[in-house]
Amino acid sequence: MAQKLQSRRQFLKTSLTGSMALAAGGITGVSALSCTNPADRDGILDTVCSGKSSITTRGDIGIRIYSEKVDTPVRLMVISDTHLWMSDDREEPFRQYSERMSKAYNKTRHFQTQEETNPNEALQKTLELAKKMGVDAIFHLGDLVSYPSEAGVEWAKEQFDATGIPWYYISGNHDWHYEGMEGTEIELRNEWAAKRLALLYHGNNPLLYSVDIKGLKVVMLDDSVYEILPEQLSLFRKEMKEGKPSLMMSHIPLYAPGFSVGYGCGHPDWNAESDRNFELERRPRWPEGGHSETTFEFWKEVIRSHARHNLLATFAGHVHSQSSSVVDGWPQFTLKANFSGAYNIVEILPMKDLL
Ligand SMILES: [Fe+2]
Repeated sequence: MAQKLQSRRQFLKTSLTGSMALAAGGITGVSALSCTNPADRDGILDTVCSGKSSITTRGDIGIRIYSEKVDTPVRLMVISDTHLWMSDDREEPFRQYSERMSKAYNKTRHFQTQEETNPNEALQKTLELAKKMGVDAIFHLGDLVSYPSEAGVEWAKEQFDATGIPWYYISGNHDWHYEGMEGTEIELRNEWAAKRLALLYHGNNPLLYSVDIKGLKVVMLDDSVYEILPEQLSLFRKEMKEGKPSLMMSHIPLYAPGFSVGYGCGHPDWNAESDRNFELERRPRWPEGGHSETTFEFWKEVIRSHARHNLLATFAGHVHSQSSSVVDGWPQFTLKANFSGAYNIVEILPMKDLL
């Protein structure tokens, strides 16, 4: 572990040096490390991330990424954490595992009006907006349901299909989790992804797949057990080596210095000691020794992929709040929960349109 942390610190030192050098080079607006909740703080934040791309965030609903690698404008709707809690008779045998989460987000408040709403209404209104705004594709980054509810998954699929817009999904930690059920997290994810979530994957590999939207590659990665498997690292490397302008989307954010352990994928403090919720969520405690080497390696690979392979940005949900961070030029955004109606319109635009 000590060796693991040392190599992480060494890598971060290098990353920081890279960022600071960029800032010292006279490019304004560079965020050397991280900024939290820009919308709550300033309303607008402009961030120039590297010589290759420019990023503008508008309030808490819009992100524009300009890149010289992009020829065709692309407009995406990105949402996460709807937490549908509906169920029917088929859920009866599983009530002992789904009871707590079935009561978690029954009534919510709209993120803009503060009026009372609920996850079903929030998703329907979000999808109406997607149609109105003419997005090219819709991406859901997990916790679509609060437990693997057949009724919830089927209802959501109907709503997505009815838009007529291509839509893609990757799992969150609640989508496959029946609290207190016997088994490791990896076993339970495999089992319930196959039994209940398969409808949402269009036949793609639920661990990692990619789609092409007008020449933009979007990689969908399942990191909902907080760890990256060797198979996922190798698939990710293969995707990045193609060198196309790309985004990566996952449920759990990747570690960024200054953020809480909730940004758990690759966080050096993610371990048994920092796991506060394993009893409440009735799941195995995080491991004593923290992350696997593969997970740390994946985190580094993401930063390298930004620099070398045109990975423009990454997006995640899980933390239910808006944030942006930049580590050595690699930008990551997290999203407000869709159970409050929140969404993000992400536009990927040719740099020539900016200049
Ligand atoms: Fe969530």
